[in-house]
Amino acid sequence: MFNDIAPRYDTLNHLLSLGLDKRWRRAAVRRAAAVCPTAVLDLAAGTGDMTLALLKRYVPQHICCADLSPEMLGRGKEKICRWLDKRFWKKRLARGICPPTTDFVECTAEALPFADGSFDVVMIGFGVRNFADIPQSMREIARILKPGGRLVVLEFSMPRRGFFALLYRLYLRLYLPLVGGLISGSFKAYRYLPSSMAQYAAESPLLPAITASGMAVVEQRPLSGGTVMLTVGGR
Ligand SMILES: C[S@@+](CC[C@H](N)C(=O)[O-])C[C@H]1O[C@@H](n2cnc3c(N)ncnc32)[C@H](O)[C@@H]1O
Repeated sequence: MFNDIAPRYDTLNHLLSLGLDKRWRRAAVRRAAAVCPTAVLDLAAGTGDMTLALLKRYVPQHICCADLSPEMLGRGKEKICRWLDKRFWKKRLARGICPPTTDFVECTAEALPFADGSFDVVMIGFGVRNFADIPQSMREIARILKPGGRLVVLEFSMPRRGFFALLYRLYLRLYLPLVGGLISGSFKAYRYLPSSMAQYAAESPLLPAITASGMAVVEQRPLSGGTVMLTVGGR
C-alpha cells in the first residue's frame, strides 16, 4: 500500500495536516537532539521527513533510515541526498560541521538487522500504527538502543471530548478519504488511514509495549488538540 501512495505522499501529508506535520516533526526532533546523539535510526522513515527535520536542527555522525517499503525508502534517499548536496555542503561545511554518514536499509521493525546497542536515538514518525507486532518492534528497539538511549515516537491520536472531537471525526470520515483518495489515486489507502488511526487510538498499545520491552516512558505530550501524541521512551 505504501508503495502505491509514495509518489504523492509528501504533498498529501502537508495538505491533509494543513501544514502542521512540520511543527509535529520539529517537536519530535527537539527531543531527539536533546541527547546529542552520535547515531540515529529513523525507523519507518518513509520519504525521510523526520530525518530532514532532524538534520535542520542537529547533525549526528551517522543517520540510518529504515523502512519496509522500497518505494518510500527510495524517495527518502533521493530527497535526503539532494538536501545534503544542496544545503549542507554550502552552509554547514563552510562552518566546519562534518556531514553525517547515511544508510538506507529495507527491513521491518519487528526484525531489525542491527547489532545490540547501535543507536543513541530511534525516532518513528507515524509508523508504529502500521507495525504488525508492536511489542516485538519495541523489544527490537530496546535491543539496538545504547544504554541511556532514547525512543521518540509521533503517532496520530484521537481527541476524546467536545466539539473539536466531533469536528475531527467528521474530517476523518469525509475530508481525509475523499481528498486523500482523489489526489493519491488510492481510495483504499485513505480509507485505511482513518480506520487504522481509530483502532490504534482505541487500543493504545504503545505504552504497555514500551514498558514490557524494558524501556521507560519519559514523556507523553498531546499536540494540536490531541490529534497527535508525542511519546518519548528511555532505555
Ligand atoms: C505513514 S508513513 C510515515 C513515514 C515517515 N516516517 C513520516 O513521518 O512521514 C509509514 C511508514 O511506515 C512503514 N512501515 C509500515 N510498517 C512497517 C514495519 N513493520 N517496519 C518498517 N516500516 C514499516 C511504511 O512503509 C511507511 O513508509
